[in-house]
Amino acid sequence: MNEMYRSKDQTDKTKVTCIRNRADVLYDFKVSFFTMGQLPHFPWNFLERELENDSSSEIILDVLKQTCLHPLCCKHPPSVRYRRLFLSQLIKRHEASGREPLDELYDALGEVLGVEEGTECYKSYLLPCGEAVSLSESTAVISEGTTGLVTWEAALYLAEWALENTHLFTDRAILELGSGVGLTGIAVCRSCSPSSYVFSDCHLSVLHRLRDNVQLNGLDNQNSPRVCVEHLDWEEVTEKQLREIGAATVIAADVVYDPDIIGCLVKLLSKILRCSANGSPPDVYISSTIRNPDTYNSFKHQLEGSGIQHEVMTGPVTRVFFYNRQATIEMIKLHV
Ligand SMILES: C[S@@+](CC[C@H](N)C(=O)[O-])C[C@H]1O[C@@H](n2cnc3c(N)ncnc32)[C@H](O)[C@@H]1O
Repeated sequence: MNEMYRSKDQTDKTKVTCIRNRADVLYDFKVSFFTMGQLPHFPWNFLERELENDSSSEIILDVLKQTCLHPLCCKHPPSVRYRRLFLSQLIKRHEASGREPLDELYDALGEVLGVEEGTECYKSYLLPCGEAVSLSESTAVISEGTTGLVTWEAALYLAEWALENTHLFTDRAILELGSGVGLTGIAVCRSCSPSSYVFSDCHLSVLHRLRDNVQLNGLDNQNSPRVCVEHLDWEEVTEKQLREIGAATVIAADVVYDPDIIGCLVKLLSKILRCSANGSPPDVYISSTIRNPDTYNSFKHQLEGSGIQHEVMTGPVTRVFFYNRQATIEMIKLHV
């Protein structure tokens, strides 16, 4: 049974700590808003303090400019429902401060009130270089029978880990398994200069969305890295197909979540590690959210049973994205 149902409800308890100054707080609002982070975890305390100490409504206008009035929101807006809830929170704080109503707030709310909620939205993840990875995602955690239409925490962690270890990706051919909507791969292509990148998945709707997202982020019309999106089902993939891809590095995020698919994933990993394209087996890194330790341990036992050793990757990873830091995420490197 798929364990995804449990995860997102319990997630995103991350609190924005270490608030240093107004610019940091505004950045926190922006990052959280564009990834549709949980509203209680926004730095509302800072906003309330500013409203107490400053007689103007400048802080509210600044927050609006970094969120609903930011150009990114016109281009790739978070869901209608989310923007509505966010604006309601902002209005509540503003009203509680006893100030005159602010036209900009009500205009922004008016814009989203009449709009019908769809099943898709955009989330934008800001890279350290300041650029955004914008992705079309589903508004529901599980939709069309797949978990692949949203970005999961393990994908964000894997992307952060890659940003910290760019040398492991630079000038290398990368294959990603179970890419979902593409966050990790797009971040790696943008920031780590791989020579080529193969995104892959098996679900048709996921592949469709993945292609759209690759295009949305301009990766389809550039020479470097060479990028492609492939239908690659763990149960069906052949050694020939793997040799043709010729990956030097294979990565995957949040692919260990269903006891029923662990067996075929382990078989595939065994094939990958034993079918070297260029004389040596590829480096394989898997990032997993451990929701159910039994499922994860079963994965590790099956790896051992197939003669695959693993090493847990420790070491600091700089926080780049806004996501639940309370979930246990583990990165492992596999060896034969
Ligand atoms: C939980 S999602 C993770 C997506 C993405 N890596 C992330 O972390 O955001 C798992 C992904 O694995 C894919 N997947 C599951 N079984 C698969 C199989 N047999 N072959 C290929 N992909 C599979 C799903 O379609 C889905 O996109």
